[in-house]
Amino acid sequence: MTDTLALFASCQPGLEPFLIEELSRQYVSAEAVPGGATFTGNMQTVMRACLWLGTASHVRIRLAQFRCRALGELQRKAAEMPWKDWLSSRVPVALTSRSRRSRVYHTGGISERIYNAIGGSLGRPPTLARDEDETVAGVAARFDEDVCTISLDATTTPLHRRGYRLDGRKAPLREDIAHALVLASNWSPDTAMLDPFCGSGTIAIEAAGLAMGLAPGRLRPPAMQQTARFDIDAWQEVLEEGARRDPMAPIAASDRDQGAVEATRQNAERAGVEQAIQCDAHALAAQPWLEGRDAPAIGTLITNPPYGVRIQNGSNLLPLYQTIGHRLKSLGEGWNAMILAHDMRLARRTGLPLAPAFTTKHGGLSVTAMGSATNETSPTEKPEQAEK
Ligand SMILES: C[S@@+](CC[C@H](N)C(=O)[O-])C[C@H]1O[C@@H](n2cnc3c(N)ncnc32)[C@H](O)[C@@H]1O
Repeated sequence: MTDTLALFASCQPGLEPFLIEELSRQYVSAEAVPGGATFTGNMQTVMRACLWLGTASHVRIRLAQFRCRALGELQRKAAEMPWKDWLSSRVPVALTSRSRRSRVYHTGGISERIYNAIGGSLGRPPTLARDEDETVAGVAARFDEDVCTISLDATTTPLHRRGYRLDGRKAPLREDIAHALVLASNWSPDTAMLDPFCGSGTIAIEAAGLAMGLAPGRLRPPAMQQTARFDIDAWQEVLEEGARRDPMAPIAASDRDQGAVEATRQNAERAGVEQAIQCDAHALAAQPWLEGRDAPAIGTLITNPPYGVRIQNGSNLLPLYQTIGHRLKSLGEGWNAMILAHDMRLARRTGLPLAPAFTTKHGGLSVTAMGSATNETSPTEKPEQAEK
């Protein structure tokens, strides 16, 4: 199948530059738009995007775009679409509709007309999806200023659900945001990496995957499997692309909660990266590298400390953030940081020269990735109390 498809990869707000960068690594030239990137390609491009984009949420294929000012017109135009080429009558369909500044505004009416058009083309009404977890073909219709765009989701579940994190512990970070955090840190996999607040291990596991050349979507169900265009051989070929490497430098993940450490180990094993991650239970101030024991000379601390909202609500986290900065500085100029922060007051308390790399939403909160290019400029403050 060599037809050129109009494609859209969606992402969390603020992750667009990383998405464009990831697409360019696939030799795809894309245009950033708010909430994602548009590009063109063939079915291989779709499968590679689903497999290799670590910062995308969905990949959608645009099936049609036309001007439309009435529901009757929608039904007629949607009936002309080659639904049979895309949908299989065996797979339930999940329809979503949106309308903005358009004469056709009734979303229930839009979905109904598209449902009828699909049924007419397939020869029988499609089964509608009921269960969130079942494999469905997602069809989305969007009206924007009287232009209707109809697209098919190439993915069944959002791409950040990699499949390795069965135990999410408390406040797990979305995998796509963890991926962006690692990319934004400019960490080089031939140097050390540390997450001393690892929780379920998401940041360390994403970093290890990048270091080992593994595709973020490697554990997910095959792309397009819910459509009439599914081609298992083509998927296998795409899966075999890319060169797996051995990890080059230590990645350390720790947490003061023994259960979190156990979850990290199990998640890392499912992700196939357990050999790349040293995982132990330590409170921040007792983390061996941060205590100066056997610390590599060069490394990056990439972490998502407690925000003070979902965990330890109301407690005073200022000393904890101060300890982060104090300990990192004691490691010397070879260490940098990338910290996901919700409260800028806490980030500033590290005393590190941090600058915003990106801002996004996580769990309904605005969070900013704060990174240091160097940690030498700001004077070392003594923490108010060592965090145990
Ligand atoms: C926001 S969660 C990290 C979530 C993680 N990024 C994930 O994806 O699962 C913060 C973690 O910091 C840990 N923590 C809180 N205070 C700590 C301390 N003083 N030393 C070490 N870990 C601590 C908590 O147990 C929790 O697992």
